[in-house]
Amino acid sequence: MSIRFAVFGLNQGSKIARDAVANPELDLVAVAGFGQQAEDVAAELDVPLFEDYNVLLKEVPLDAVAIALPNGLHVQSTRACLDAGIRNILLEKPIANTVEDAEKIIAMCEEEGATLLIGHHRRSSTKYLFLREFIESGRLGDLVGVQGTYAIAKPHAYYDVEWHTKKGGGPLLINAIHDVDDLNYTTGLTVKRVYAASRNSIRGNEIEDSVSVLYEFAEGPTATYFISDGTPGPWNYDLSACENHFFKWSPGENSLHFFGTKGSLGFPNMDFYSYEEGHFGWGEPLVKEHFELEKNDPMTAELEHFVDLCTGREKTPRCTGEDGLATLKVINAILESAERKQIVDID
Ligand SMILES: NC(=O)c1ccc[n+]([C@@H]2O[C@H](COP(=O)([O-])OP(=O)(O)OC[C@H]3O[C@@H](n4cnc5c(N)ncnc54)[C@H](O)[C@@H]3O)[C@@H](O)[C@H]2O)c1
Repeated sequence: MSIRFAVFGLNQGSKIARDAVANPELDLVAVAGFGQQAEDVAAELDVPLFEDYNVLLKEVPLDAVAIALPNGLHVQSTRACLDAGIRNILLEKPIANTVEDAEKIIAMCEEEGATLLIGHHRRSSTKYLFLREFIESGRLGDLVGVQGTYAIAKPHAYYDVEWHTKKGGGPLLINAIHDVDDLNYTTGLTVKRVYAASRNSIRGNEIEDSVSVLYEFAEGPTATYFISDGTPGPWNYDLSACENHFFKWSPGENSLHFFGTKGSLGFPNMDFYSYEEGHFGWGEPLVKEHFELEKNDPMTAELEHFVDLCTGREKTPRCTGEDGLATLKVINAILESAERKQIVDID
């Protein structure tokens, strides 16, 4: 049985729509969006286009939907889908702009018994799935610390778009949110406190261009993270992994380092350093072990996971509403800490 599926929003959503057409279990019956890009995508995929998703919901019976609308529309579009009887929703990240809206989305999906998958797609990357299992396996010993970097240069023209220069358009909400979610997912730890120092000295815009963050996890370990989108740097996950067609060249550097009592791992290069059995200490040679993984397209894999949820083959979303909310809370705490220049505790 094929799943009657629609995609709302056709910028980021165009990738989901194209993947849906290629997925034998999904029947892409309609899309929603407006403007030239939406018209082009609908024509390319030969699928009916609706300018207003509410009209689509009235006219087209659906089993499942992907919402890739601007964040400010996430609550109302989720409500509209539930009212139309849809019980399988893939909602793009961030779950919402605010904690209140995220809580509303979680509560309404729970009330209606709907499955909600939040589109933190890196959770479906073979690299992150491996990393999560590797940390769980205990080969690092007890995790004591993590260092992360997202150093990259966005083109000057990127900041000609006005909303990119205003609150919400900076690298924390656009890029760091992925790195935060990766930390939450792979370590399984809970960030309880952050301190962030933010600068806009590269461009002088209202929003940050470079931020340093110190995290404390409830379970003990600490992490440091530096992000800048105005520095030519190879140490960022997007370039390192090249999982997105937009990034065509990989410098082959790591973006994350995990430190444990038995060894340490550079990610995504997957180089693990530890001592031979019975040896320990800085005078001893470290043994390097390299893990080779098959690369996948995490967004395609995320949609496959969504199909598994729709069909009941899988029961638990890789990123639940609560997971999306936990990530949003950390990003909000970083923004608050940077603004108030104070340590911020997370509930
Ligand atoms: N997972 C990722 O890596 C990733 C990357 C980019 C964006 N996103 C998320 O995807 C979502 C969309 O982001 P974007 O950059 O594509 O936004 P965008 O503003 O570029 O595109 C929004 C789309 O929604 C359509 N739209 C807006 N209002 C509508 C309405 N009332 N009815 C029907 N269509 C409507 C627009 O026509 C457009 O096609 C956001 O939540 C964003 O955070 C996720």
